[in-house]
Amino acid sequence: MKRWGSPTVFFFFFLVLLLGAFFHWVDHTSIKGHKKSPSIIELPLKRSLDGSMEQSRVSTYPVIFRPNNLSSTACPEYFRWIHEDLRIWESTGISRAMVERAKDYAHFRLVILKGKIYVEKYKKSFHTRDVFTIWGILQLLRLYPGKVPDLELMFWCEDRPVILKKDYQGTNATSSPSIFQYCGHEDALGIVFPDWTFWGWAETNVSPWKTLSKDFKEANKRTKWKDRVPYAYWRGNPNVAASRTQLMWCNVSDKYDWNARLYKQDWRTESEQGYEHSRLEDQCTHRYKIYIEGRGWSVSDKYILACDSMTLFVKPEYYDFFIRSMVPLQHYWPVSARNKCRDIKFAVEWGNNHTDKVVKMCLMFILSLFTGF
Ligand SMILES: *[C@@H]1O[C@H](CO)[C@@H](O)[C@H](O)[C@H]1NC(C)=O
Ligand SMILES: *[C@@H]1O[C@H](CO)[C@@H](O)[C@H](O)[C@H]1NC(C)=O
Ligand SMILES: *[C@@H]1O[C@H](CO)[C@@H](O)[C@H](O)[C@H]1NC(C)=O
Ligand SMILES: *[C@@H]1O[C@H](CO)[C@@H](O)[C@H](O)[C@H]1NC(C)=O
Repeated sequence: MKRWGSPTVFFFFFLVLLLGAFFHWVDHTSIKGHKKSPSIIELPLKRSLDGSMEQSRVSTYPVIFRPNNLSSTACPEYFRWIHEDLRIWESTGISRAMVERAKDYAHFRLVILKGKIYVEKYKKSFHTRDVFTIWGILQLLRLYPGKVPDLELMFWCEDRPVILKKDYQGTNATSSPSIFQYCGHEDALGIVFPDWTFWGWAETNVSPWKTLSKDFKEANKRTKWKDRVPYAYWRGNPNVAASRTQLMWCNVSDKYDWNARLYKQDWRTESEQGYEHSRLEDQCTHRYKIYIEGRGWSVSDKYILACDSMTLFVKPEYYDFFIRSMVPLQHYWPVSARNKCRDIKFAVEWGNNHTDKVVKMCLMFILSLFTGF
């Protein structure tokens, strides 16, 4: 349990490696060739009660991170996926043309030059996803002064990847655009980057992971696993994907109990009531928590996994930067996408029959959370 304190550290370490690896592939002349005069962005840090953005310096502004002995720390397993995402450019490298081609899709272009960030915005992203993503990279520069190389990248902020592999086969194969995004898919191209919620999601009142992970730690202490409600819990918006609509059929009814307790999250009502009922750390009340993706992967994965409950993971199609490294029966209990109700019922029954085994499984996950799966 002691290692809980380090997720943020590892997480930033991941970013350094990710950007470092990307830089390694990029044709270095890219940066010199950039002629447009970039504009400096100013960062809104807080959303005040009336909904406007406040530009204030916060006292928790990160300071330089000085690892005691970085060489003694083995790279977490999930770092190797960086190379997987970059593989298609292995023989060609990434040319200026490939970066520029991604402009048709990107929400913004980001340039790091001598430790400063420059941004060119192309499209409006949903809520403030772009702002929080850039804010994360700014913190990275602050934590690792002098270590983040000059680079240039294009970023896509939607739920699903935008560039399909099938469009870049044959004659197009040598010109695959390179774009950063929050999640990947086997049929798509793109480099997976941690999503904006790690630094906060102002519009839904979700704090940065650094703060929230501490709240989860406290919440987990409040109710021991065995004392939790012995059913599978899910709360969210069922209307964003067909698989979620299907999941609702597994809810308990007068006729049948699939051992699932499912709730619809109405974000509008919640925002009117000050998000009192949607505090993520207060949702660690059940022994089992269901993860099911939404339009793409769902940012809820980390909040569900952090609950120290057994995660019933409905087989996903999309992956964020750590999903691919998770091991069934070690980090989660797999649930098939086709037989959700049946699998959930079985998992809950099995878990309630074998409580000691489940407690061990949950503990193992907490230990490995973000510290090297
Ligand atoms: C760092 O850790 C490695 C492996 O544990 C050890 O061999 C090395 O001496 C350590 N270096 C320092 C400066 O403490
Ligand atoms: C090449 O890529 C473009 C998109 O940039 C696409 O419209 C076209 O169909 C692709 N051609 C092939 C042969 O895949
Ligand atoms: C699922 O069932 C519970 C208990 O009957 C109910 O409170 C809840 O609203 C139901 N959820 C959905 C999404 O209908
Ligand atoms: C759980 O235990 C009950 C009672 O012993 C048994 O009937 C049931 O088959 C068990 N279920 C699973 C999934 O282990």
